[in-house]
Amino acid sequence: MNPKMIRAKIIGIGSYVPEKVLTNADFEKMVNTSDEWIITRTGISERRVCADGEDTSDMCVRGAERALESAGLKPADIDLVVAATVTPDFRLPSLACVIQKKMGLINAAAMDVAAACAGFIYGLSMAQAFINAGTFKRIMVIGAERLSSITDYSDRNTCVLFGDGAGVAILAASDDDSGILATYLKSDGTLDSLLNIPGGGTHLPFGRNGNFDHRLTCLHMNGNEIFKHAVRFMGDAALKVVDDAGLTPDQVDLLVPHQANIRIIKATARRLGIPMERVYVNIDKFGNTSSASVPLALDHAVREGRIKKGDNIVSVAFGGGLTWGAVAIRW
Ligand code: ACO
Repeated sequence: MNPKMIRAKIIGIGSYVPEKVLTNADFEKMVNTSDEWIITRTGISERRVCADGEDTSDMCVRGAERALESAGLKPADIDLVVAATVTPDFRLPSLACVIQKKMGLINAAAMDVAAACAGFIYGLSMAQAFINAGTFKRIMVIGAERLSSITDYSDRNTCVLFGDGAGVAILAASDDDSGILATYLKSDGTLDSLLNIPGGGTHLPFGRNGNFDHRLTCLHMNGNEIFKHAVRFMGDAALKVVDDAGLTPDQVDLLVPHQANIRIIKATARRLGIPMERVYVNIDKFGNTSSASVPLALDHAVREGRIKKGDNIVSVAFGGGLTWGAVAIRW
């Protein structure tokens, strides 16, 4: 980053996960799988899922209240809301507008970002650019998913992986050397067939031309291929952002990666040469929550005392699109 740039800094963070827990034992009753297979191949023991009637925006509101409290701000202080999600409450209005209404964010502009699991990192990068340009002063960046609403619970290849949750960061201009040091974003739309939701959009509208197959509005994934790309792209992105931040991997105090699969997380740490003691992992409890994964992990790491002021933090994520990205932050 240009040294004259104004750094955006996370001044408040919060998260929320629903009460309801789905364990691996629950999946043994639903599909042909085992606790042993799921733990060995993914690192996941349990995940949270929304109750009936609990929307993505409801989780966002709970997480955002905690983030505002930790920033010492009121809803009226926010002037931009960026919500990263692939599971908004509605096609229209945006999730960000629904949150604005529910929370009384009366002075904000609001918009969504659709970049799957990398969405929160895309949102942080946008916040950095807007704060540097002086366009907005206090930005709420949300990563939230109700993946249970787009999961096919008869498909063992995908259903054991996903959970619901929301994480929220509030950013403002930094007045010291803390804040976002570097960001890196990338995508490759030619790899769309590896991870997608085929129906429900204009290409194959749900309910039109006899299309009433719910599974077409669920996530479809080529797990093997996604795994290979995730390992390569997350490693590349993390190394690039560390270098752009003027750091070396040994100066990274904590790697907070997207929680997609414990084997992908370990491979990314190996590429960086960072021991697992300096990697934050909560996939065992929450599974893959897509765009909520990084802010959820950041919030929990802060609240557990794993992140302290002055620490160098690197987050990296990868998801459908394909999209990927990384951010280096001095806390
Ligand atoms: N229980 C038991 N067996 C299973 C299960 C299951 N839940 N799921 C798959 N299997 C079987 C397969 O059918 C296959 O059986 P076969 O050999 O008889 O055909 C065998 O296990 C091996 O399957 P693989 O797909 O090769 O297993 P792999 O080790 O690759 O693990 C996994 C699968 C966990 C999905 C892995 O590929 C992965 O994590 N991929 C990346 C997923 C990801 O990161 N997605 C990110 C984006 S998510 C988003 O954007 C919302």
